[in-house]
Amino acid sequence: MDVVYLNGRYVPKSEAAVPVEDRGFLLGDGVYEVVPFYEGVPLFMERHLDRLRFSLSEVRIDFDADDVADVARQLVARNGLDQADRSIVYVQVTRGVAPRTHYFPEKPVPPTVFGYAKAWTRPADDAWGRGFAAITVPDRRWLRVDIKTINLLPNALAFQAAKDAGVDDAILVREGVAIEGAHQNFWAVIDGVAVTHPTTNLILAGITRGVVLEIARAEGIPVEERAIQVEELARAEELFFTGATGEVRPCVRVDGRAIGDGRVGPVTRALSRAFLALVERTKEAAAVAR
Ligand code: PDD
Repeated sequence: MDVVYLNGRYVPKSEAAVPVEDRGFLLGDGVYEVVPFYEGVPLFMERHLDRLRFSLSEVRIDFDADDVADVARQLVARNGLDQADRSIVYVQVTRGVAPRTHYFPEKPVPPTVFGYAKAWTRPADDAWGRGFAAITVPDRRWLRVDIKTINLLPNALAFQAAKDAGVDDAILVREGVAIEGAHQNFWAVIDGVAVTHPTTNLILAGITRGVVLEIARAEGIPVEERAIQVEELARAEELFFTGATGEVRPCVRVDGRAIGDGRVGPVTRALSRAFLALVERTKEAAAVAR
Protein backbone atom coordinates (compact mmCIF):
# COMPACT_ATOMS: atom_id res chain seq x y z
CA MET A 1 0.00 0.00 0.00
CA ASP A 2 1.32 3.47 -0.85
CA VAL A 3 2.52 5.42 2.17
CA VAL A 4 2.48 9.20 1.86
CA TYR A 5 3.69 11.98 4.14
CA LEU A 6 1.23 14.60 5.33
CA ASN A 7 2.05 17.24 7.94
CA GLY A 8 4.48 15.21 10.02
CA ARG A 9 2.84 11.80 9.64
CA TYR A 10 3.33 8.82 7.36
CA VAL A 11 -0.10 7.46 6.44
CA PRO A 12 -1.66 5.17 3.83
CA LYS A 13 -2.50 7.24 0.75
CA SER A 14 -6.19 6.34 1.10
CA GLU A 15 -6.25 7.99 4.54
CA ALA A 16 -4.47 11.22 3.56
CA ALA A 17 -6.79 14.18 3.09
CA VAL A 18 -6.38 17.94 2.90
CA PRO A 19 -9.12 20.39 3.97
CA VAL A 20 -11.02 22.03 1.11
CA GLU A 21 -9.80 25.43 2.27
CA ASP A 22 -6.17 24.56 1.65
CA ARG A 23 -4.74 27.47 -0.31
CA GLY A 24 -2.95 25.06 -2.59
CA PHE A 25 -6.33 23.64 -3.64
CA LEU A 26 -8.15 26.98 -3.89
CA LEU A 27 -5.41 29.27 -5.22
CA GLY A 28 -2.49 27.15 -6.33
CA ASP A 29 -0.66 28.88 -3.48
CA GLY A 30 2.27 26.53 -3.04
CA VAL A 31 5.59 25.22 -4.30
CA TYR A 32 7.01 21.77 -4.92
CA GLU A 33 10.14 19.79 -5.58
CA VAL A 34 10.90 16.47 -7.29
CA VAL A 35 14.00 14.54 -6.16
CA PRO A 36 15.25 11.54 -8.15
CA PHE A 37 16.44 8.40 -6.33
CA TYR A 38 18.48 5.52 -7.75
CA GLU A 39 18.32 2.28 -5.72
CA GLY A 40 17.37 4.35 -2.71
CA VAL A 41 20.16 6.91 -3.19
CA PRO A 42 19.13 10.51 -3.84
CA LEU A 43 20.83 12.43 -6.62
CA PHE A 44 21.93 15.93 -5.60
CA MET A 45 19.60 16.21 -2.62
CA GLU A 46 21.25 19.43 -1.41
CA ARG A 47 20.66 21.19 -4.71
CA HIS A 48 16.98 20.21 -4.61
CA LEU A 49 16.69 21.47 -1.04
CA ASP A 50 18.33 24.75 -2.00
CA ARG A 51 15.90 25.20 -4.89
CA LEU A 52 12.98 24.42 -2.56
CA ARG A 53 14.28 27.03 -0.08
CA PHE A 54 14.50 29.53 -2.94
CA SER A 55 10.92 28.78 -4.09
CA LEU A 56 9.58 29.05 -0.53
CA SER A 57 11.33 32.32 0.11
CA GLU A 58 10.26 33.88 -3.22
CA VAL A 59 6.56 33.19 -2.44
CA ARG A 60 7.06 33.96 1.28
CA ILE A 61 5.96 30.62 2.70
CA ASP A 62 7.56 30.17 6.11
CA PHE A 63 8.77 26.58 6.19
CA ASP A 64 12.10 25.07 7.21
CA ALA A 65 13.10 22.68 4.41
CA ASP A 66 15.86 20.96 6.43
CA ASP A 67 13.67 17.95 7.28
CA VAL A 68 12.69 17.31 3.67
CA ALA A 69 15.80 15.19 3.02
CA ASP A 70 14.81 12.79 5.79
CA VAL A 71 11.15 12.76 4.71
CA ALA A 72 12.21 11.92 1.16
CA ARG A 73 14.46 9.07 2.29
CA GLN A 74 11.74 7.71 4.56
CA LEU A 75 9.18 7.81 1.76
CA VAL A 76 11.48 5.79 -0.47
CA ALA A 77 12.17 3.25 2.29
CA ARG A 78 8.59 2.98 3.53
CA ASN A 79 7.33 2.35 0.01
CA GLY A 80 9.86 -0.43 -0.57
CA LEU A 81 11.72 1.55 -3.25
CA ASP A 82 15.22 1.11 -1.80
CA GLN A 83 16.07 -1.38 -4.54
CA ALA A 84 14.08 0.27 -7.33
CA ASP A 85 16.28 1.24 -10.29
CA ARG A 86 14.66 4.64 -10.40
CA SER A 87 12.15 6.43 -8.21
CA ILE A 88 11.17 9.99 -7.45
CA VAL A 89 9.97 11.80 -4.37
CA TYR A 90 7.46 14.60 -4.82
CA VAL A 91 7.15 17.15 -2.00
CA GLN A 92 4.64 19.99 -2.01
CA VAL A 93 4.36 22.82 0.50
CA THR A 94 1.31 25.10 0.42
CA ARG A 95 0.62 28.22 2.45
CA GLY A 96 -1.86 26.23 4.54
CA VAL A 97 -5.56 26.16 5.34
CA ALA A 98 -7.49 29.43 5.70
CA PRO A 99 -10.71 31.03 4.42
CA ARG A 100 -10.17 32.07 0.81
CA THR A 101 -8.69 35.55 0.39
CA HIS A 102 -6.35 36.86 -2.27
CA TYR A 103 -4.01 38.16 0.45
CA PHE A 104 -2.13 35.88 2.85
CA PRO A 105 -3.95 34.67 6.01
CA GLU A 106 -3.77 37.53 8.53
CA LYS A 107 -3.06 35.11 11.37
CA PRO A 108 -0.34 32.85 9.99
CA VAL A 109 -1.37 29.21 9.62
CA PRO A 110 0.98 26.23 9.41
CA PRO A 111 1.90 25.26 5.85
CA THR A 112 0.53 22.01 4.46
CA VAL A 113 3.36 19.61 3.64
CA PHE A 114 2.64 16.61 1.46
CA GLY A 115 4.98 14.06 -0.08
CA TYR A 116 4.89 10.77 -1.95
CA ALA A 117 7.35 8.44 -3.64
CA LYS A 118 6.91 6.40 -6.77
CA ALA A 119 9.00 4.20 -9.03
CA TRP A 120 9.66 5.10 -12.62
CA THR A 121 11.30 3.06 -15.34
CA ARG A 122 12.58 3.69 -18.80
CA PRO A 123 10.42 1.60 -21.14
CA ALA A 124 12.09 -1.64 -22.26
CA ASP A 125 11.58 -0.75 -25.94
CA ASP A 126 14.70 1.46 -26.13
CA ALA A 127 12.69 4.65 -26.55
CA TRP A 128 15.73 6.64 -25.35
CA GLY A 129 17.83 4.93 -28.01
CA ARG A 130 15.41 5.90 -30.77
CA GLY A 131 14.58 9.38 -29.51
CA PHE A 132 11.32 11.22 -28.99
CA ALA A 133 9.14 13.56 -31.04
CA ALA A 134 7.98 17.02 -29.92
CA ILE A 135 5.88 19.93 -31.08
CA THR A 136 6.42 23.62 -30.42
CA VAL A 137 3.69 25.25 -28.31
CA PRO A 138 3.32 28.90 -27.21
CA ASP A 139 4.68 29.47 -23.68
CA ARG A 140 1.66 30.85 -21.80
CA ARG A 141 3.21 30.77 -18.33
CA TRP A 142 3.76 33.70 -15.97
CA LEU A 143 7.08 35.53 -15.76
CA ARG A 144 8.45 33.83 -12.63
CA VAL A 145 8.77 30.22 -13.73
CA ASP A 146 12.15 30.13 -11.96
CA ILE A 147 9.98 29.52 -8.86
CA LYS A 148 8.80 25.91 -8.79
CA THR A 149 5.15 26.65 -8.01
CA ILE A 150 2.31 24.14 -8.21
CA ASN A 151 0.59 26.37 -10.81
CA LEU A 152 1.13 24.06 -13.75
CA LEU A 153 -2.00 24.67 -15.86
CA PRO A 154 -0.06 26.18 -18.81
CA ASN A 155 2.41 23.30 -18.61
CA ALA A 156 -0.44 20.77 -18.53
CA LEU A 157 -2.17 22.44 -21.51
CA ALA A 158 1.11 22.39 -23.46
CA PHE A 159 1.78 18.76 -22.65
CA GLN A 160 -1.80 17.80 -23.54
CA ALA A 161 -1.38 19.58 -26.89
CA ALA A 162 1.65 17.35 -27.52
CA LYS A 163 -0.34 14.28 -26.56
CA ASP A 164 -3.24 15.33 -28.79
CA ALA A 165 -0.73 15.74 -31.64
CA GLY A 166 0.49 12.18 -31.04
CA VAL A 167 3.98 13.20 -29.86
CA ASP A 168 5.93 12.83 -26.63
CA ASP A 169 7.02 16.31 -25.57
CA ALA A 170 6.28 20.01 -25.94
CA ILE A 171 8.81 22.78 -26.54
CA LEU A 172 7.54 26.06 -25.09
CA VAL A 173 8.17 29.08 -27.31
CA ARG A 174 8.11 32.69 -26.10
CA GLU A 175 8.76 35.57 -28.49
CA GLY A 176 10.47 33.31 -31.00
CA VAL A 177 12.70 31.62 -28.42
CA ALA A 178 12.56 27.87 -27.60
CA ILE A 179 12.56 28.26 -23.82
CA GLU A 180 12.19 24.82 -22.26
CA GLY A 181 9.90 21.78 -22.17
CA ALA A 182 6.63 21.44 -20.27
CA HIS A 183 8.51 19.71 -17.44
CA GLN A 184 12.11 19.53 -18.64
CA ASN A 185 14.84 21.87 -19.81
CA PHE A 186 15.62 22.03 -23.51
CA TRP A 187 18.92 21.86 -25.38
CA ALA A 188 20.06 22.14 -28.99
CA VAL A 189 23.40 21.10 -30.45
CA ILE A 190 24.31 23.75 -33.01
CA ASP A 191 27.68 23.73 -34.80
CA GLY A 192 28.89 21.21 -32.24
CA VAL A 193 27.97 23.41 -29.25
CA ALA A 194 25.40 22.21 -26.69
CA VAL A 195 23.18 25.27 -26.16
CA THR A 196 20.57 25.79 -23.45
CA HIS A 197 18.63 28.83 -22.22
CA PRO A 198 20.36 30.82 -19.44
CA THR A 199 18.87 30.67 -15.94
CA THR A 200 16.59 33.70 -15.97
CA ASN A 201 13.03 34.21 -14.71
CA LEU A 202 11.85 32.50 -17.92
CA ILE A 203 13.03 28.94 -17.14
CA LEU A 204 13.14 26.63 -14.19
CA ALA A 205 16.80 26.18 -13.27
CA GLY A 206 16.74 22.41 -13.60
CA ILE A 207 19.08 20.48 -11.34
CA THR A 208 19.67 18.01 -14.18
CA ARG A 209 20.44 20.96 -16.50
CA GLY A 210 23.11 22.20 -14.08
CA VAL A 211 24.60 18.73 -13.72
CA VAL A 212 24.66 18.19 -17.50
CA LEU A 213 26.41 21.54 -17.97
CA GLU A 214 29.10 20.37 -15.53
CA ILE A 215 29.35 16.97 -17.22
CA ALA A 216 29.67 18.56 -20.67
CA ARG A 217 32.50 20.82 -19.49
CA ALA A 218 34.26 17.84 -17.90
CA GLU A 219 33.87 15.83 -21.13
CA GLY A 220 35.24 18.68 -23.24
CA ILE A 221 31.91 19.24 -25.01
CA PRO A 222 31.50 22.96 -25.78
CA VAL A 223 28.46 24.51 -24.09
CA GLU A 224 26.75 27.86 -24.32
CA GLU A 225 23.92 29.34 -22.25
CA ARG A 226 21.94 31.55 -24.59
CA ALA A 227 18.46 31.88 -26.07
CA ILE A 228 17.73 29.39 -28.88
CA GLN A 229 15.68 30.96 -31.69
CA VAL A 230 12.96 28.65 -33.07
CA GLU A 231 14.40 29.13 -36.57
CA GLU A 232 17.61 27.53 -35.33
CA LEU A 233 15.84 24.23 -34.60
CA ALA A 234 15.68 23.36 -38.31
CA ARG A 235 19.48 23.45 -38.62
CA ALA A 236 20.31 21.99 -35.20
CA GLU A 237 22.32 18.78 -35.34
CA GLU A 238 20.69 17.38 -32.21
CA LEU A 239 18.04 18.27 -29.64
CA PHE A 240 17.43 16.89 -26.17
CA PHE A 241 15.65 17.58 -22.90
CA THR A 242 16.93 17.19 -19.34
CA GLY A 243 15.00 16.63 -16.13
CA ALA A 244 14.63 14.45 -13.06
CA THR A 245 12.05 12.27 -14.80
CA GLY A 246 13.76 12.13 -18.18
CA GLU A 247 17.50 12.28 -17.51
CA VAL A 248 19.06 13.12 -20.89
CA ARG A 249 16.06 12.62 -23.20
CA PRO A 250 16.77 12.75 -26.94
CA CYS A 251 14.40 14.61 -29.26
CA VAL A 252 14.66 13.58 -32.93
CA ARG A 253 11.55 15.18 -34.49
CA VAL A 254 9.99 18.61 -34.05
CA ASP A 255 6.71 19.68 -35.66
CA GLY A 256 6.92 16.66 -37.99
CA ARG A 257 10.46 17.40 -39.23
CA ALA A 258 13.46 15.18 -38.52
CA ILE A 259 16.35 16.77 -36.64
CA GLY A 260 19.70 15.97 -38.26
CA ASP A 261 19.44 12.46 -39.70
CA GLY A 262 16.50 11.69 -37.39
CA ARG A 263 18.65 9.56 -35.09
CA VAL A 264 20.01 10.22 -31.62
CA GLY A 265 23.26 12.12 -32.14
CA PRO A 266 26.74 11.68 -30.63
CA VAL A 267 26.60 14.65 -28.21
CA THR A 268 23.28 13.49 -26.74
CA ARG A 269 24.62 9.94 -26.44
CA ALA A 270 27.86 11.10 -24.80
CA LEU A 271 26.02 13.27 -22.28
CA SER A 272 23.49 10.54 -21.55
CA ARG A 273 26.26 8.00 -20.97
CA ALA A 274 28.19 10.42 -18.74
CA PHE A 275 25.02 11.24 -16.77
CA LEU A 276 24.32 7.55 -16.13
CA ALA A 277 27.98 7.05 -15.14
CA LEU A 278 27.57 9.85 -12.60
CA VAL A 279 24.51 8.07 -11.21
CA GLU A 280 26.59 4.89 -10.81
CA ARG A 281 29.37 6.82 -9.03
CA THR A 282 26.82 8.42 -6.70
CA LYS A 283 25.40 5.01 -5.81
CA GLU A 284 28.89 3.59 -5.18
CA ALA A 285 29.83 6.54 -2.98
CA ALA A 286 26.63 6.05 -0.95
CA ALA A 287 27.37 2.32 -0.55
CA VAL A 288 30.88 3.12 0.75
CA ALA A 289 29.49 5.69 3.19
CA ARG A 290 27.02 3.18 4.65
N1 PDD B 1 9.87 19.01 -13.53
N2 PDD B 1 11.58 22.81 -16.40
C1 PDD B 1 10.36 22.61 -15.87
C2 PDD B 1 9.24 23.50 -16.27
C3 PDD B 1 10.17 21.57 -14.93
O1 PDD B 1 8.96 21.39 -14.39
C4 PDD B 1 11.26 20.73 -14.58
C5 PDD B 1 11.12 19.62 -13.57
C6 PDD B 1 12.50 20.98 -15.19
C7 PDD B 1 13.72 20.13 -14.91
O2 PDD B 1 14.20 20.30 -13.59
P1 PDD B 1 15.00 19.15 -12.86
O3 PDD B 1 16.17 18.84 -13.70
O4 PDD B 1 15.40 19.73 -11.56
O5 PDD B 1 14.08 17.96 -12.75
C8 PDD B 1 12.63 22.03 -16.08
C9 PDD B 1 9.54 18.08 -12.50
C10 PDD B 1 10.37 16.84 -12.55
C11 PDD B 1 8.05 17.79 -12.52
O6 PDD B 1 7.30 18.75 -12.63
O7 PDD B 1 7.64 16.63 -12.37
